[in-house]
Amino acid sequence: MKVSIIGAGNVGASVCYLLIAKEISKNVILVDINRSIAQGKAIDLQQASVALVSSTRIQTSSDYKDIENSDIVVITAGIPRRENMSREDLLGTNIKIINEIVSNIKKFAPNAIIITVSNPLDIMNYAVLKLSGFERNKVIGMGGILDSARMAHAILKRLDDKSEFVNACVIGAHGEQMLPLLSHSFVGKKSVSELFDKRTCEDIVNDTKSGGARIVKFLQTSAYYAPAAAICILIEAILKNKKEMLTCSVYLEGEYGIDGVSIGVPAIIGKDGIEEIIELSLDENELKMLHTAATELKEQIKIADKLLKENV
Ligand code: NAI
Ligand code: 2OP
Repeated sequence: MKVSIIGAGNVGASVCYLLIAKEISKNVILVDINRSIAQGKAIDLQQASVALVSSTRIQTSSDYKDIENSDIVVITAGIPRRENMSREDLLGTNIKIINEIVSNIKKFAPNAIIITVSNPLDIMNYAVLKLSGFERNKVIGMGGILDSARMAHAILKRLDDKSEFVNACVIGAHGEQMLPLLSHSFVGKKSVSELFDKRTCEDIVNDTKSGGARIVKFLQTSAYYAPAAAICILIEAILKNKKEMLTCSVYLEGEYGIDGVSIGVPAIIGKDGIEEIIELSLDENELKMLHTAATELKEQIKIADKLLKENV
């Protein structure tokens, strides 16, 4: 199985490191516009692979031809946000990068499943889908797995017994309009809304939503270890045909009453990518918030479409 990673920055290189450590894919290609960075990281990663006695081989390339026959292409190229920047502030720069990358994926890896990571995630995933012309099951945005991990972390912090099993669920946009679902998140068999008082539930929601920005404040760039872990979960689900339910940004065509937007919802992920979209039973308020998120994304899509037209 072959995985190509486009963008050898913090997130892309961390994904490679995990792929080596977990031996998820034998053959990994790392591509970056900055050849020197890609070369340096690839050598470092190859040495890590030897040290760990891993079967994973990492190669770098500045030629997109080398992504040929990839089963999965992960897009982690583009600028990350700095303090006081929203993910949406990255749109103008990153859409041009995505445009160039997708034209190469179409040419050299037309059968691959694409995992979009670059921000603003849901808009970029929409752009990847439209520019590639791929079927929607083969274009998956990674956001919800990370946000759900952040929610699980926020819940776990508030538990006395840290060994309890926490299963959190965040849907909606990977941004301000994310929707941490208290009634669909569980500690053991109890939902978070049953377990905690109203004030604590609000704190969990706020910690989840601000989880990424908090890290940016300390690092002056965005997170990469947890994002890389989330990307690896997705890669593993595809390569091992796990049929696992994971929240991903998916282009909706009527599900949840939403059409024409890529947004985070639970989906079954297996060898064909998105194999089924799960429609959770949401209460009136949750559904309203999901629709508000979709409406805001549609405004961003208009900007993205305009930028793409100007760029062509
Ligand atoms: P970074 O700045 O460390 O790395 C980005 C890399 O992309 C750089 O090495 C750069 O040379 C490369 N690049 C730029 N243009 C390129 C092109 N045309 N072709 C190939 N490579 C190109 O950034 P980092 O931290 O790795 O983040 C990457 C992206 O992922 C950002 O947009 C960030 O916002 C996003 N992100 C998304 C997450 C999510 O949950 N969806 C989580 C974390 C980051
Ligand atoms: C994050 O949530 C920046 O999207 C990235 O950390």
